[in-house]
Amino acid sequence: MSPTSKRNLILAFESSCDETSVAVIEDGHQILSNIVATQIKSHQRFGGVVPEVASRHHIEEITICIKDALAEANVTYDDLDAVAVTYGPGLVGALLIGVTAAKTVAFAHNLPLIPVNHMAGHIYAARYVEPIEFPAMALLVSGGHTELVYMPAENQFEIIGETRDDAAGEAYDKVGRVMGVNYPAGKTVDEWAHQGHDTFNFPRAMDKDDNFDFSFSGLKSAFINTTHHADQVGETLDKHDLAASFQQAVVDVLADKTLRALKQYPVHQLILAGGVAANHGLRERLDAELAAVPGTRLVKAPLKLCGDNAAMIGAFAEVAYRHQVFADATLNADPSLEFDWVADPVK
Ligand code: KG4
Ligand code: ZN
Repeated sequence: MSPTSKRNLILAFESSCDETSVAVIEDGHQILSNIVATQIKSHQRFGGVVPEVASRHHIEEITICIKDALAEANVTYDDLDAVAVTYGPGLVGALLIGVTAAKTVAFAHNLPLIPVNHMAGHIYAARYVEPIEFPAMALLVSGGHTELVYMPAENQFEIIGETRDDAAGEAYDKVGRVMGVNYPAGKTVDEWAHQGHDTFNFPRAMDKDDNFDFSFSGLKSAFINTTHHADQVGETLDKHDLAASFQQAVVDVLADKTLRALKQYPVHQLILAGGVAANHGLRERLDAELAAVPGTRLVKAPLKLCGDNAAMIGAFAEVAYRHQVFADATLNADPSLEFDWVADPVK
């Protein structure tokens, strides 16, 4: 950070999907403010995020979020050391709003600009629980991704397994929709699951395969076929049992594969992150399983930081700052950004 500054303050931006968020983070692990303007209500009537609607909301919200984030943190632009922004992966139009706002603030106030990978941000939400110790493993489960990420060091990410089709959150949202639950359905399906039993025994795809990949589309189809068949014969299925059966199949596969990955890649910490990391069934299961893995601690992202937010972007930005990973004004949104940029500065 600058020689005169003692506080190490980063203004972080996140706008990759349907939350506009700006945060002020001190030293990479202290949240001074984390403003999140959610657009969920606007997208609910469409049953999912409409990219064009998301972009328009980001434009309306972003300057208000900046003002609020600075005010709540009780700092001005002059106090800042750097600006950080999610530049991918995500919706291109949505990303562009955050990237443009961050570039503008960086240029106007002569601050370095730190490009942040959204998925790295999700993992680094764990920093608000305890310092990350390497090597570490992350189970990253969100609406767009389901990945096992091995991290030998703080700026190195190796995807050792990922979904071959739907992400876990996407599957939650789709089966939720079949049961009449508003988007995003994960939280409600999770609540229902706790009131039912696994009576349907849905398939656990790829559970026994000798790799760390996942697949959720077969489970989703099995769920939809079961409910359609019941509709056709006029049978009413118990929604709590349906939810419990679906959740048990998801949690079984996620937990089994993760446990197997930990055997091959011994780590100090297993980090659970991403929107689906808020799932109580998954948190409880991993708590129980990890108790029997000596030397590996489970670090669960705080519930309020599992969904998209700028605090997690600021947490990783501090690492990128130390590694001098900076971008210039040519930084662009990269909707399919992958992890491998992290080891090298952005060209
Ligand atoms: O990480 P996130 O906020 O956005 C993406 O980057 O995708 O994840 C959103 C996803 C949605 O699919 C939502 O249904 C799911 O996280 N989700 C949950 C729970 N809370 C949110 N899924 C299962 N159980 C939950 N409690
Ligand atoms: Zn996300």
